[in-house]
Amino acid sequence: GAADLGPYRYYMQKEIFEQPRAVVDTLQDVTSIMPELFGDNGWRVLNAVDSVLLLACGGSYHAALTAKYWIESLARLPVSVEIASEYRYRDGVPNAKTLVVAVSQSGETADVLGALQVAKRQGMHHTLAICNVPTSALARECSLTFFTRAGVEIGVASTKAFTTQLVALFLLALTLAQCRRRLSEQDEQRHLLALRHLPDAMTRVLALEPQIVAWAEQLTRRQDILFLGRGMHYPIAMEGALKMKEIAYIHAEAYAAGELKHGPLALVSDEMPVVAVAPNDRLLEKLKSNMHEVSARSGKLYVFADIDCRIMSGPAIEVIRLTEHHGLLSPILHTIPMQLLAFHAALARGTDIDKPRNLAKSVTVE
Ligand code: G6P
Repeated sequence: GAADLGPYRYYMQKEIFEQPRAVVDTLQDVTSIMPELFGDNGWRVLNAVDSVLLLACGGSYHAALTAKYWIESLARLPVSVEIASEYRYRDGVPNAKTLVVAVSQSGETADVLGALQVAKRQGMHHTLAICNVPTSALARECSLTFFTRAGVEIGVASTKAFTTQLVALFLLALTLAQCRRRLSEQDEQRHLLALRHLPDAMTRVLALEPQIVAWAEQLTRRQDILFLGRGMHYPIAMEGALKMKEIAYIHAEAYAAGELKHGPLALVSDEMPVVAVAPNDRLLEKLKSNMHEVSARSGKLYVFADIDCRIMSGPAIEVIRLTEHHGLLSPILHTIPMQLLAFHAALARGTDIDKPRNLAKSVTVE
């Protein structure tokens, strides 16, 4: 009830601000990287696989897409990511040595359970559930499990479950790297330190809320918004667009910024604002030239950059700087402004934020 909302008006808002705590809890028992983090059979299973297939829906699908970048670059294993509702009805080519990872907050999503059953029926028996509910059907169906400790999530739009899924998936990438002897002890310590630092870094991103409120108020007057990202931040742009649709009811679409010129650029005008997730990584220069394509067509840009980034505010470009660049974990930090932007746009529009129309927290029927 309202009592446990504390100072917040909505569960989604409370859950956004709970994220540093949720990450601390999720990391609580992680003192080193080891296959047993994923269960008693962890060593046997994770050493037997030669590829990874991630299955998920909704926000969890975006977490899985981010994990593809991490697993490929850290563990050098081939990764595919599938929308569960599609995978279950496709004639996929099974590989008994694939690690099948089902990512689901609830562990009860019918399409995820269905897709997992298809994979098992095809002879793929190395299965891992990453979920937030230890008693869920999904946890019972998989040989390995990792439980995020976000705590009960009530808002229909996933927030703290999403960022803790990312933490779990990053741990999986590190563990697979270790199994393949691609993680030195030094690297392990460095990554663990970076993970431990996340809650503080997240707290500083949450403090950007007032600046994000100002943007949200401008964006609520729009019918459409384009979200751009590149590399491992493309799925974060997708998550931003999903949130905007789900709770603010604003049509939003995410594009990998390099694809802009292959279609959506035709839509850009002073009526079509563009939100860019633009952290300092090796794709920043590329992204900047994509942003010039937008400015040249009088599109207004809203850029989430990092502290040391040289993108300057101007008449048609606004910049909010995150307080630090967090390397491989940057997608986790850049998720928070996406959540706050959608939340405040929804607040300004007066929608039913915790229970958006037509949607359910957990979709247990097909
Ligand atoms: C529903 C919720 C989404 C969620 C998706 C997947 O559509 O509204 O917020 O991302 O289900 O849920 P899961 O529990 O499998 O992560």
